[in-house]
Amino acid sequence: MCGIIGYLGGREATPILMESLKRLEYRGYDSAGVAVLELPRAGEAVRTSITKSEAKVDTLIEKLEANMPSGRLGIGHTRWATHGKPTYINAHPHTDCKGKIFVVHNGIIENFAELKAELEAEGHEFPSETDTEVVPHLIEKYYKGDFLAAVRAALKRMKGAYALAMFSSDDPELLVGARLNAPLVVGLGEKENYIASDITAIIPYTKRVLVLGEGEVAAVTPLGAEVSSLDGVTVKPKIVHVDWDVTQAQKNGFAHFMLKEIHETPEALANAMRGRLTDDGLVSFREFDVPHEQLRNLNEVILLGMGTSLHAAMIGEYLLEDWVGLPARAVDASEFRYRRPTFADNALGVVITQSGETADTLVALQQAKSRGALTVAVTNVIASSAARDADGAIYLHAGPEIGVASTKTFNSHIVSLCLLAMRLATANDRISLERRHELVEAMRALPEHVKGILARDKEILGLANKYSKYRNFMYAGRGIGYPVALEGALKLKEISYIHAEGTSGGELKHGPIALLDDQFPVVAICTASATKDKMVSNVHEIVARNAPVLALVTKGDRSLDDVATDIFEMPAVEETVSAILNTVMLQLFAYHVAVKLGQDVDQPRNLAKSVTVE
Ligand code: AGP
Ligand code: GLU
Repeated sequence: MCGIIGYLGGREATPILMESLKRLEYRGYDSAGVAVLELPRAGEAVRTSITKSEAKVDTLIEKLEANMPSGRLGIGHTRWATHGKPTYINAHPHTDCKGKIFVVHNGIIENFAELKAELEAEGHEFPSETDTEVVPHLIEKYYKGDFLAAVRAALKRMKGAYALAMFSSDDPELLVGARLNAPLVVGLGEKENYIASDITAIIPYTKRVLVLGEGEVAAVTPLGAEVSSLDGVTVKPKIVHVDWDVTQAQKNGFAHFMLKEIHETPEALANAMRGRLTDDGLVSFREFDVPHEQLRNLNEVILLGMGTSLHAAMIGEYLLEDWVGLPARAVDASEFRYRRPTFADNALGVVITQSGETADTLVALQQAKSRGALTVAVTNVIASSAARDADGAIYLHAGPEIGVASTKTFNSHIVSLCLLAMRLATANDRISLERRHELVEAMRALPEHVKGILARDKEILGLANKYSKYRNFMYAGRGIGYPVALEGALKLKEISYIHAEGTSGGELKHGPIALLDDQFPVVAICTASATKDKMVSNVHEIVARNAPVLALVTKGDRSLDDVATDIFEMPAVEETVSAILNTVMLQLFAYHVAVKLGQDVDQPRNLAKSVTVE
């Protein structure tokens, strides 16, 4: 999820690691560290120095400048905590019992708990709380003098997502990289080579980049790099020449962070499910490990959030009612605090917050706690205030979100709420094994479906260009399509400054329809659902007022063919899945409209990424 840099060559490694970590800062992180294999002085043994900072890269740099390790092999990391708080001990690099093997890691080792138990039983000790620490110990376990062979043996045992840079002090001429479900590249220089999580880190040094494939291992020496599979079969390296400047590189070639982050949705959704969902649809949350009986006793769920997170909460409300049969309500957190809200005896308060620092939401969380509710924070930021204050946390693991407009994390919130609903439904015996299988299948297919929508960017761009001439928009939907409509409208207004409002299809005739004319288009969410036919009737009503209609419909549904102005066909999928696909389409639509109008998409006026005042 965060930044990796590795260097092996003829120059001093430390200044290169420092510079590269600075360039990786844009990704968002909480702590940083480097390990450098120091050149032995006469008569001395080889030693590796580790320098870490539980704060920013600048603090790390100060420490390094005060005590500069001298060596030609080193690895560096900016950590964005997923397992264990952002502390000094948890910062990378991590090492084995003998302090010989050094590892930095981005991603999540899904089966780390069982690997850790196995290694602990064999006598390995783990000072940190991270999942990463199993990696050096597992390599140590298999190490019989061939570092690369030990790395391969260890990787074969690991599940989940990893980009790794590693070295052993026994092999001063070898730097090893490996990846699975997380990106890693090798930068090829003149008698010096690099490993990096993305090319931003290495762009000033080289433009020749070897892109590592899934499940591949790179053995990097000062003279080159050899790529092989986990079984040791040599793979032909894929080398590309990049001519990006540093800013382009930070955005991975995308024009804006918002666009990059929308494109990160498939990975973010896979991460939200990683290690939590069995084939039989049983859900477990490591940081919200509440016994079945306690969940069974719950008689109300209150979902609290603001902005985009409130829209996610509204989807959660529908899911909890529908799948669990529990009374559920989504509430604007800023309002909740100053009401005298009623609470059931056994209420669950779910706070939805990407940043975990939204003041309105934190105050509502306190209110829920003081009224005796069990609380859980669904958040993207480890050890954020919400995660610390609530009784438990469900982390999104979506990676940092830099664009002010929330995009990938909205959909990660929905997936997390689906998992929570499945967990509660199972505890309450409200869901059959068959239905769980259906849901598991639908959820696991989600990342691929999202990729399908992302691949249709040009089509969405065409629609955005066509509609960008209007100054007012209405978004309408029913069921979970209603919060999706609200979110679509919010996305458009916050980044393009076009007036946009969301309404339920039913509410339309109770007022909003008065606004409609041929200059007031409606985005109508008409994908398959229990209320789709009602939405189709709404579209007829809208068209009768001459308003242009952009309708999202399920592929093969012809009911709006001669009615809507434009139709965007969606694949036939489970309703919750379609809410996510529809949202991705609407995010891209808003993005392209805003770009067409020349707005500052990543930092829209008057808005902040994290609203820490009430
Ligand atoms: C939406 O694009 C905004 N970023 C905003 O509405 C946001 O969702 C809201 O401020 C809540 O933030 P949180 O999820 O970090 O608590
Ligand atoms: N899962 C690892 C940790 O929490 C790596 C996080 C990252 O990608 O920075 O330490």
